[in-house]
Amino acid sequence: MTSAKFQKPFLAALAGQRQPRPPVWLMRQAGRYLPEYREIRARAKSFLDFCYTPASTVEATLQPIRRFGFDAAILFSDILVLPDALGQRVTFETGEGPRLEPIADAAGFSRLRSEPDWERLTPAFETLDRLKTALPAEVALIGFCGAPWTVASYMIAGRGTPDQGPARLFAYRHPELFGALIDRLVDASADYLVHQIVAGAEAVQIFDSWAGVLPPAEFERWCVAPLAALVAKVKAREPGTPIIAFPRGAASQLGKFSGMKGVAAIGLDTAVEPAAAAAMLPGDMALQGNLDPLALVAGGRALDEGIDRVLEGFRPRAHIFNLGHGILPETPIAHVERIMARVRGA
Ligand code: CP3
Repeated sequence: MTSAKFQKPFLAALAGQRQPRPPVWLMRQAGRYLPEYREIRARAKSFLDFCYTPASTVEATLQPIRRFGFDAAILFSDILVLPDALGQRVTFETGEGPRLEPIADAAGFSRLRSEPDWERLTPAFETLDRLKTALPAEVALIGFCGAPWTVASYMIAGRGTPDQGPARLFAYRHPELFGALIDRLVDASADYLVHQIVAGAEAVQIFDSWAGVLPPAEFERWCVAPLAALVAKVKAREPGTPIIAFPRGAASQLGKFSGMKGVAAIGLDTAVEPAAAAAMLPGDMALQGNLDPLALVAGGRALDEGIDRVLEGFRPRAHIFNLGHGILPETPIAHVERIMARVRGA
């Protein structure tokens, strides 16, 4: 195929074509480690307000592209705008992270809308639409959502916890109710991603940041099956758009994604050995990852060696260079520049 979109290295890698140098983007590449983000963020009333203001989100998406020249830009938003659009109360406390009104029982679940309030999410679609023309021609545009399990775990606990224990306990005690919440999220997330694709996203990533806390049977039931259902729904309507799944912490269970039709790439966390991932996943699935965000904070030899090991480890496969989890706020900008120089020069 010679359609124009395959000229973008990021999309070519997602199509399974090994690139001479892997395309690069970094999870959470926009945000607090950038002074120019802190400056525009300080002017917003709240983080959600910022997320719902296209002038702000377009600018925040573009900032890391201008500074570093990444191969892909990711919509500036958050995975928790979906619970917000489903009618759950969501706030972000500075320095403390998200706070949601926890869903404690059937009554809490019944207060959710059956479908997201699309008007609330319109700013995200407008952001994507504007970015289509604002981005350099070779830079791809990524949309995203949280995976049903990860989003549900925040909806139940009302916040991040060390191991999302409240949602795990809830799922054991009330499997039917929890299943209904997961189903609601599968449908809402599929519609949300399709809307993002229609608005201009050329690929989408599904963040399952809490995949790693579940035992194998629950992992199958609450992570793998809902993800497969979500992917199938999106692919049925937008077959041409590649999907990246990021099951953080699921190193030993990656084989469960090997038969998942419609997943173009798997995002790998820091703990995954490249050769082990390659052995568990089919050759036409691209691999994305997985430099340790702390090596990026440290810089120096730790960073150079980390970059080289990632490049070397994934060399046999179609690879997208990324971190194993989101960039940390204390990351020095010079260290991000170092990644670009070393990967592009390698
Ligand atoms: O460049 C980008 O990727 C920006 C877009 C983006 C944000 N959040 C902005 C954000 C994306 C893709 C996310 C994903 C996200 N949000 C995930 C999955 C990825 C991961 O890191 O595991 C999760 C679990 C969330 C939920 C969330 N949002 C938490 C736990 C927090 C607080 C802690 C933290 O990491 O900041 C947020 C807030 C948030 N989301 C900020 C940003 C820039 C910081 C808030 C601020 O700037 O005031």
